[in-house]
Amino acid sequence: MADKQFDVVVIGGGPGGYIAAIRAAQLGFNVACIDEWKNAKGGPALGGTCTNVGCIPSKALLQSSEHYEHAGKHFADHGIKVEGLGLDVAKMLARKDTVVKQNNDGIQFLFKKNKVASFHGRGSFVKATDAGYEIKVSGASEETIVGQHVIVATGSNARALPGAPFDEENILSNDGALRIGSVPKKLALIGSGVIGLEMGSVWRRLGAEVTVLEALPTFLGAVDEQIAKEAKKAFDKQGLKIELGVKVGEVKSSAKGVSIAYENAKGEAQSLDVDKLIVSIGRVPNTIGLNVEAVGLKLDERGAIVVDDDCKTNLPKVWAIGDVVRGPMLAHKAEEEGVAVAERIAGQHGHVNFNTIPWVIYTSPEIAWVGQTEQQLKASGRAYKAGTFPFLANGRARALGDTTGMVKFLADAATDEILGVHIVGPMASELISEAVVAMEFKASSEDIARICHAHPSLSEATKEAALAVDKRTLNF
Ligand code: FAD
Ligand code: NAI
Repeated sequence: MADKQFDVVVIGGGPGGYIAAIRAAQLGFNVACIDEWKNAKGGPALGGTCTNVGCIPSKALLQSSEHYEHAGKHFADHGIKVEGLGLDVAKMLARKDTVVKQNNDGIQFLFKKNKVASFHGRGSFVKATDAGYEIKVSGASEETIVGQHVIVATGSNARALPGAPFDEENILSNDGALRIGSVPKKLALIGSGVIGLEMGSVWRRLGAEVTVLEALPTFLGAVDEQIAKEAKKAFDKQGLKIELGVKVGEVKSSAKGVSIAYENAKGEAQSLDVDKLIVSIGRVPNTIGLNVEAVGLKLDERGAIVVDDDCKTNLPKVWAIGDVVRGPMLAHKAEEEGVAVAERIAGQHGHVNFNTIPWVIYTSPEIAWVGQTEQQLKASGRAYKAGTFPFLANGRARALGDTTGMVKFLADAATDEILGVHIVGPMASELISEAVVAMEFKASSEDIARICHAHPSLSEATKEAALAVDKRTLNF
């Protein structure tokens, strides 16, 4: 017999789940959110992968390591002398943990403010009843709650290499990668995707000799080719060694470190001995312990919960969002789905525009994009115009001392509608928002070209790239 009845029960307190819970509460529903993440003391740590071992801690370490690199390599260009520069990795990690905790606490505060009932433990389906779905919460104690609607937001887990399970000592997932206690002399990463490049950058900046082994022959295949090429040039210059087209073989972990056998792109047998290995070959949807069988919740062959465009599952009043369903594994995508589902439950018309979800890779230079790449437009046969503007010709970038990269616009050849914007360079993560807004409003490149942008600012490169579509840049 269940003790607690809710209008909406959210399983998972990551960015998808906690935002869904808050939005549902704002809409007047009686909401519970169940999350099992434990902090070091065994208490709740709301925020999921993103807050605990993803977006937030990785960005904290990217920032700290960038400061270190600037102090060591770039301050001198500004006439700043640094003597006795040192590294306190323990302090850097502790700062990162503080940032994480501030975010955990912030979500807890938001739950109180919005009167979301928070349950700490694993949620699993028991059965469907007339009152709704019975969900068992297994934590310090066990209880059962009932939700008329259930939103599943159980996220994803790191994919392991076959035959080389994570031990988080030598063979690390994103979790271990964020808490290496001292800078490894040699570090390998398998997979040069988003995590490979971000975590590879952190530990390279801190002094590790980093090798990234990537199976695909092309670098960042999902990124616009011109942008990916520019980024690769910058990473090569920094000394981030990226080997493409490799076939990883046996991975052996021992007290001395990790030994990786692989074939290079020419098919030659190679071996690499490193102190630590980070495996970043993608993530798998997580439904472990959810007991989907009890209610017949349908999964696809990848283990993702099957949903339609509105995040409806095969079961009435059961919804699923975020990394556990199809689509990009991004925190902001999960959040948008969370809001949309809460609004749909309230009878409103929640909407997520998948064409305008921005991507950002927080390396230096940053890489950010929205919409279609040039190769996608070519493949679809759509006639387009392109315009680029290099940061080298931007006054603010020169003042910052960071002139790597460019902004690139792709617009429809006939209507001038913006089809994609791609940026590699300083603060690309912030600059991309203007492009997202423009695309949401179906703007043309001329719209952006006619808008007054502050001077001197990096955003002038965006305006100039828009002007470049019509071949009329002013500063290049
Ligand atoms: P999650 O954040 O994974 O949250 C799921 C939650 O559900 C977890 O707390 C889990 O413990 C809980 N849970 C699971 N099963 C149960 C259960 N049965 N009962 C109770 N609780 C359960 N994305 C970005 O957009 N920007 C970034 O910069 C970025 N950086 C990243 C860096 C790294 C290293 C990693 C690994 C990921 C990064 N991501 C980033 C991806 C982002 O973290 C995910 O897309 C996002 O967290 C997905 O949100 P979610 O709510 O779907 O799931
Ligand atoms: P990813 O999908 O970005 O990259 C995985 C890479 O590993 C690919 O290039 C793939 O070709 C390669 N690969 C796969 N199997 C391999 C093998 N056996 N040997 C060698 N290479 C292999 O996945 P990643 O980096 O693990 O990140 C997971 C997800 O987390 C991302 O897709 C993204 O959605 C999210 N994320 C987002 C961030 C952001 O938004 N800034 C930061 C970090 C993660």
